[in-house]
Amino acid sequence: MSEIPNADPEGIDSVRMTWNNWPRTKVEASKCVIPLAASISPIRSNPEIPTLPYLPLRCKTCTSIMNCFSRVDFTAKIWICPFCFQRNHFPPNYSMISETNLPAELYSQYTTIEYTIGDKNHNPVGEFDVKSAFVFVLDTCMIEEEFEYVKSEVKRAVGLLPENAMVGFVTFGTQVQVHELGFSDMSKVYVFRGTKEISKDQIMEQLGIGGAGRRNVPGGAVGVGGYQQQRGMPMQNSGVSRFLLPASDCEFTLNSLLDELQTDQWPVAPGNRPSRCTGVALSVAAGLLGACLPGTGARIVALVGGPCTEGPGAIISKDLSDPVRSHKDLDKDAAPYFKKAVKFYDSLAKQLVSQGHVLDLFASALDQVGVAEMKVAVERTGGLVVLSESFGHSVFKDSFKRVFDSGEKSLGLCFNGTLEINCSKDIKIQGIIGPCTSLEKKGPSVADTVIGEGNTTAWKMCGLDKSTCFTVFFDISSSEKSNAPGSANPQLYLQFLTSYQNPEGLTLLRVTTVTRRWVDSAVNSEELVQGFDQETAAVVMARFTSLKMESEEGFDATRWLDRNLIRFCSKFGEYRKDDPSSFTLNSFFSFFPQFMFNLRRSQFIQVFNNSPDETAYFRMLLNRENITNAAVMIQPSLISYSFNSLPQPALLDVASIGADRILLLDSYFSVVIFHGMTIAQWRNLGYQNQPEHQVFAQLLQAPKDDAQAIIHERFPVPRLVVCDQHGSQARFLLAKLNPSATYNNANEMAAGSDIIFTDDVSLQVFFEHLQRLAVQS
Ligand SMILES: *[C@@H]1O[C@H](CO)[C@@H](O)[C@H](O)[C@H]1NC(C)=O
Ligand SMILES: *[C@@H]1O[C@H](CO)[C@@H](O)[C@H](O)[C@H]1NC(C)=O
Ligand SMILES: *[C@@H]1O[C@H](CO)[C@@H](O)[C@H](O)[C@H]1NC(C)=O
Ligand SMILES: *[C@@H]1O[C@H](CO)[C@@H](O)[C@H](O)[C@H]1NC(C)=O
Ligand SMILES: *[C@@H]1O[C@H](CO)[C@@H](O)[C@H](O)[C@H]1NC(C)=O
Ligand SMILES: [Zn+2]
Repeated sequence: MSEIPNADPEGIDSVRMTWNNWPRTKVEASKCVIPLAASISPIRSNPEIPTLPYLPLRCKTCTSIMNCFSRVDFTAKIWICPFCFQRNHFPPNYSMISETNLPAELYSQYTTIEYTIGDKNHNPVGEFDVKSAFVFVLDTCMIEEEFEYVKSEVKRAVGLLPENAMVGFVTFGTQVQVHELGFSDMSKVYVFRGTKEISKDQIMEQLGIGGAGRRNVPGGAVGVGGYQQQRGMPMQNSGVSRFLLPASDCEFTLNSLLDELQTDQWPVAPGNRPSRCTGVALSVAAGLLGACLPGTGARIVALVGGPCTEGPGAIISKDLSDPVRSHKDLDKDAAPYFKKAVKFYDSLAKQLVSQGHVLDLFASALDQVGVAEMKVAVERTGGLVVLSESFGHSVFKDSFKRVFDSGEKSLGLCFNGTLEINCSKDIKIQGIIGPCTSLEKKGPSVADTVIGEGNTTAWKMCGLDKSTCFTVFFDISSSEKSNAPGSANPQLYLQFLTSYQNPEGLTLLRVTTVTRRWVDSAVNSEELVQGFDQETAAVVMARFTSLKMESEEGFDATRWLDRNLIRFCSKFGEYRKDDPSSFTLNSFFSFFPQFMFNLRRSQFIQVFNNSPDETAYFRMLLNRENITNAAVMIQPSLISYSFNSLPQPALLDVASIGADRILLLDSYFSVVIFHGMTIAQWRNLGYQNQPEHQVFAQLLQAPKDDAQAIIHERFPVPRLVVCDQHGSQARFLLAKLNPSATYNNANEMAAGSDIIFTDDVSLQVFFEHLQRLAVQS
């Protein structure tokens, strides 16, 4: 297949759509098979986006923001809203406006603009200006080696935090311990039982931060001033000075605490899992933040080394002979803990969202820890998630460090985000797939059918960053041709309004207004076809299918995808009825069937090859990454390195393997360097170290450098696998390749290629079936 062009396909707006020309009616939209959807990275950084130090103008009728698509009458000093056609007068401070003196928001290239709508976000807690807070919630049920790894990473993280970031520390095993950080010499610990659910009030009471001292301050923060109270007039309510302190003030205390901290000391009976109360620990951390810093950007950083076996959120019994639920168990409804645990995390998600706080999950274990159950709380709050085998593995260590890095590699973690969408009449919003929560804001553009977080025109993102991406699903209102003003307008408009607090504590409003064409004619029209974005369509289908697999009982994903693909090819293909050999697809569609082929074989659909935790992890990242990255998860990229040519893209097929080649596979979650047999032999003989074989040394080095470049810019850091043809690790590559050579046609394959033992159909067989079914009358 040819490659997707390298030019930034998202441009200044970071918006990509399945269809860039829209059908006018609901009926025609449904004939398009692939849903009308837009993917947006609402705060992706781009130096071309201007930042304006004033407030934008809003339409007095529909409240959308004046933008470069607004028509301006310079003499009358009026602008016309492209959404509702309201005529708005400019305020006096725009009186100098003319064709040659335009404010930046009316420049045609500035379809995306950022406004600074607030001063530095002052959230004073005593003398501290709190911009962010991190409560580390550390599992202590681990073997010594893992525990040492994770402790040293927490220390490093605290050392990287800005001085004024607030830090709290909670540990858990059989019980939960909340550590006081305020007094270094006399460190006190508050202990909570792990066995039962505990209310927010009980948490506050037990920590001595509830009741009398609790104040409601307009604008959000409860318990503000705690620090001063502690100094001036010692009071019970001093949660902020006791449990949450600026990194610079508590680093020493926390380091010595970590040095002395032991793994959970409660005896574990033979044949049992340790008693681990992850659910209660997260509840306590949420209660602590809710009491001390509501409305302030704060994250719970959970470091979990095994499954919750105790109290709410438990995913499995303590008996080791009872295995952790598999996809088969979930399918057969034979996972007795699952639904209850999900319900618990769902209510934790609600609490965190109402407080404006984020749950980040770092799970490192050989077995499952319950990512599948915790997913709802991570995703709804916009949290980060990293799954790895060990806290000593680079996937965890390097990813974790990136979270706290402030330099050029910073993730740019932002807080308190709200996304609102405005659209032209007749466009309805079905919902969003991605890391957010519905704010349940009703409006005329809310669709009846809901996809993901729907039934709203506004969403909350407690946490978001430069790479956070959302998929918005649209529908066209059923009303046939209306006579309302503007219905003759050939353009449709969408406006995405994202307010958020950046890492420096500044409140910004990003406004992205995009326009697309309506196409009036029936399906199959040239314009409609030319507006199809295959890569985006593939990713949207992957996200939509994953959602259906999670939410619809007995949903058969492969059949559903096949049926849609056949319908799609029947609609848009060119052929003579009942003549498969006559079938051709327009080049605007030609890669799409291959994307679907790879999607069908991917970890998103073939879930039985993975654990529910892994599936949950893959899907969370599928949903929050940009289209380019998500496409690589579905259809990995493969590059071939050989003596005779420059590195070049190779077909995702076993036929690409060659004894004298090196392959570099990027499947997003892992990056594989695969040495052909001959290359591996030469390397084992050390040719690369001989001066006359410099070219070979360079050949060996090139894929390593390219792999590092990928690893360098990706979060979570992917797993690097370096392997040789016929080695055991080679499966990481083989699993992703099209099985063009299987048992049946093995003889036809060239020498040196590998054979995949699989029942999978090959791409060629898949295409043959597809063509036959698509042309059927
Ligand atoms: C114009 O005045 C309004 C209302 O006072 C204000 O919100 C806005 O920031 C001003 N805009 C400019 C460009 O000065
Ligand atoms: C969070 O965002 C909302 C909506 O944009 C805003 O009203 C609120 O003041 C913000 N809270 C903080 C603490 O910045
Ligand atoms: C624009 O959004 C605002 C706030 O969500 C809503 O009140 C208004 O009705 C929307 N207007 C249109 C045309 O979608
Ligand atoms: C949307 O919200 C309304 C009221 O909040 C509710 O009655 C309705 O059932 C919701 N619709 C869907 C599809 O969830
Ligand atoms: C997608 O995300 C990656 C990593 O975050 C970034 O390097 C790349 O530029 C993004 N691509 C687009 C088209 O936004
Ligand atoms: Zn308007």
